[in-house]
Amino acid sequence: MCGIFGYCNYLVEKTRGEIIDILVEGLGRLEYRGYDSTGIAINGDKRNSIDVYRAIGKVSALKQEIDNINPNRDVTYASHSGIAHTRWATHGQPKQTNCHPQRSDPRNLFTIIHNGIITNFRELKTLLVNKGYTFESDTDTECIAKLFLHLYQTNIKMGNDIDFHELTKLVLMELEGSYGLLCKSVYFPGEIIATRKGSPLLIGVKSENKLKVDFVDVEFPNENAIQTETPLSNECKTDNNDELNSSNYPTVDKKEFHEKAGLVPITANEFNLRHSQSRAFLSEDGSPIPIEFFISSDAASVIKYTKKVLFLEDDDIAHIYDGELHIHRSRKEVGKSMIRSIQTLELELAQIMKGPYEHFMQKEIYEQPVSTYNTMRGRLDFDNNLVNLGGLQQFISTIRRARRLIMIACGTSYHSCLATRAIFEELSDIPVNVDLASDFLDRKCPIFRDDVCVFVSQSGETADTMFALNYAIDRGALTVGIVNSVGSSISRATNCGVHINAGPEIGVASTKAYTSQYIALVMFAVLLGEDRISKNERRREIIQGLKLIPEQIKQVLKLEPKIKQLCENELSDQKSLLLLGRGYQFASALEGALKIKEISYMHSEGVLAGELKHGVLALVDEELPIIAFGTRDYLFPKVVSSIEQVTARKGHPIIICNENDEVWSKKKLENDRLITLEVPTTVDCLQGLINIIPLQLMSYWLASNRGIDVDFPRNLAKSVTVE
Ligand code: UD1
Ligand code: F6R
Repeated sequence: MCGIFGYCNYLVEKTRGEIIDILVEGLGRLEYRGYDSTGIAINGDKRNSIDVYRAIGKVSALKQEIDNINPNRDVTYASHSGIAHTRWATHGQPKQTNCHPQRSDPRNLFTIIHNGIITNFRELKTLLVNKGYTFESDTDTECIAKLFLHLYQTNIKMGNDIDFHELTKLVLMELEGSYGLLCKSVYFPGEIIATRKGSPLLIGVKSENKLKVDFVDVEFPNENAIQTETPLSNECKTDNNDELNSSNYPTVDKKEFHEKAGLVPITANEFNLRHSQSRAFLSEDGSPIPIEFFISSDAASVIKYTKKVLFLEDDDIAHIYDGELHIHRSRKEVGKSMIRSIQTLELELAQIMKGPYEHFMQKEIYEQPVSTYNTMRGRLDFDNNLVNLGGLQQFISTIRRARRLIMIACGTSYHSCLATRAIFEELSDIPVNVDLASDFLDRKCPIFRDDVCVFVSQSGETADTMFALNYAIDRGALTVGIVNSVGSSISRATNCGVHINAGPEIGVASTKAYTSQYIALVMFAVLLGEDRISKNERRREIIQGLKLIPEQIKQVLKLEPKIKQLCENELSDQKSLLLLGRGYQFASALEGALKIKEISYMHSEGVLAGELKHGVLALVDEELPIIAFGTRDYLFPKVVSSIEQVTARKGHPIIICNENDEVWSKKKLENDRLITLEVPTTVDCLQGLINIIPLQLMSYWLASNRGIDVDFPRNLAKSVTVE
């Protein structure tokens, strides 16, 4: 996920080289979150200028880029502000112009780094383009930088010497969506704005002097103050910003700018006076103290420098200048705290990176209520039961005319295809093949121009899947990607597709990518069937079912203690495990078995319950552990019958079943060795999203109990880029 780092020194002398190193090192400590590009903004050589350095790839590539440009590292600053970012692409591919900092204009008058998504960026962009602004990136963030400049200039033209935080308030009034953002401007040298909504941000404070108090007052606008703000919505929309593109661009010095532009001289009104309420940052005699501020989206990058941190709340605007930290809010809210306390972090670095979790895999399992929500965010209209997949819009009518859909993937991604194949066929009436990428190539599967090939991949870099994609492209089929990594090879090479937006997956065993791929594929199937009135009710049921999934996943995660106990007792010291599933749950059985073998090194096998009597039943005895998916769908009676075949041979299956299911409750009364894991009920084609969670947890605990390094199982790599 994207990462934010900012550094502000005041009366603590630093060379430019030292500042660059601090920013780059701060980014290095955010690396574990996953990212695809980086960038920093610092003061340039000219007075009041800002230099931006950006690079695709790792932090080391940014270091290299800075070395190549070779700025003078010896310039010293008593006070300075710098901002830095690691980007995980969402809007626009990882390329240089899409890296953050994003800028307002070629002179970097305002530079922005941003985590989150501005949902109304298209409208804002149109508005700003009409006003003469030229956009250079595909990001949603660029419109924030341009808004800063536009609103600044509008106010200056009106003679309002607007303060940085007041300007920020105006900008935020125009933004919809989520953000954690930092802004640095040539108009406000040495200052930083940090603000958030739905995206974390904290500020570390380091000073040799003891802070007078361990909190910062929240400041509100003076109700009697004269309103100087000019919201965008009140402006004349056709107002063209000619000076933006002209050679006599406004100078960066505010005073000079006013004079040169022949504007009304700056008049400080009460609104803009800085009356310090920042009690924490003054010395005994009231003079400012030498101090450093470290701003970040993640305590991991701050803890090396200081353990004293202040967490911003949604809608806080932190304004750092002259060694002080001010927190502003637009209005007072009853019952809300009037201070933000400066806390002491007790955590160590490793703990912070994984949160309260031992391993990334466990963290990612627990992220699923959020990651599944992110896959659906902005794409499902729960009121009108509609799906909007921006990436497929132009192609959907062509896909509807396909003779055949072929889903191609490897490993866990292949299982998400198997899990959703039936719903594709049901809703679209198009025949669907599901293929393992390597087998698809080995067979030299015949492909025709009216085939649509869907490639599913978390990394978007898996070699087998990529080769199969090239094979399909060569034969003229329309290609669709279902990919997590924006800008990855598969995402770029496909004609269209859907990014699953699960966020980076670090643990080698794929968990949250599976549930997000599953949801993206179900949304795709629903969209495909949208032209069929006869399927209206089914689509409604699925969309309403999807709405509840994040909450239901939260519920299943509560099974962890029981699963852990099973792994310590019934399943410990076992050599082998069978998983039985049928219909929608066959994919769950295969995926559960893959998880268990890949991280716990225990042999496990997913078996189609209907195939038991054709051979596998010979394995069943009193000892062999068996897990059966016994949740309700139209195949339920058949599943019950398969499980009875197991118990008749003295097997003791563990049943994953719906909460309070009477069949299993009754069977438990008859057989006291029958163990059930009860999960919430959802629509049949979505039940696999819920049922897989206990298996993810089980594989985790089986491995963890065996002392295996869950995040790095032997012989496996996260991204398999070789054939
Ligand atoms: C866009 C944003 C997304 C945001 C959503 C709603 C981007 C990259 N995505 O998503 O963060 O949540 O608006 O505001 O800006 N594509 C492929 N192959 C693939 C995957 C995608 O060609 O494997 C293409 C798509 O056809 C599309 C583009 O990449 O042209 C972006 O795809 P996606 O992120 O899924 O689009 P939106 O849903 O519009
Ligand atoms: C299993 C796992 C692998 C991947 C497979 C495909 O937990 O992670 O089976 O699913 O290597 O990788 P992607 O989805 O990146 O193409």
